[in-house]
Amino acid sequence: MRLHVAEHPLIAHKLTVLRDERTPSATFRLLADELVTLLAYEGTRDVLVEDVEITTPVTKTVGKQIAGPRPLVVPILRAGLGMLEGMTRMLPTAEVGFLGMKRDHETLEVETYANRLPDDLSGRQCFILDPMLATGHTMVAAINYLLDHGARDVTCLCLLAAPEGLETVQEAIGGRANVQIVTAAVDECLNENAYIVPGLGDAGDRLYGVLD
Ligand code: URA
Repeated sequence: MRLHVAEHPLIAHKLTVLRDERTPSATFRLLADELVTLLAYEGTRDVLVEDVEITTPVTKTVGKQIAGPRPLVVPILRAGLGMLEGMTRMLPTAEVGFLGMKRDHETLEVETYANRLPDDLSGRQCFILDPMLATGHTMVAAINYLLDHGARDVTCLCLLAAPEGLETVQEAIGGRANVQIVTAAVDECLNENAYIVPGLGDAGDRLYGVLD
């Protein structure tokens, strides 16, 4: 597993506003969207391209286009949806699949409650969107699902990651070089409720409001 922490003054600035509890949902959504485009820039460095012949107003030349099969973007419901538009703006030819996952508080097993993905992912480059890499269990389940179905490689884009979650992914995914995590920051730790500290709170609630 490779880890890339996207260090940049603009990312640090936007992340600070995102963390601030006074930031309203509308601004939060806008900043999350902007941050994703910056993370996507880092996360798509290895996206496969192929030569394409074009004609400029001056001459013929050979450029690059995103190669097939089309990359697959997989937001984890619900909070991953807040990262979708920023990602597809950067990668407009990508297909989008959805995974709804949650952790059973008693068994601690990750349960998949929604799955809208192609069965055969052979050769696909996959991009998981989940703003918070907290315990890492959901991410491990999502990565394993994609690799088990033939994905060529998996890039996880997260706004924040906890050291505990990174360790869990590292232990589970270990030596697989075709998995990378791209995050805007690695925070201090998880608290007793598995929230990232200092974090930004519940990303789904901050994006979409609290559901009763
Ligand atoms: N999920 C969130 O939304 N926030 C956290 O801090 C941890 C998990």
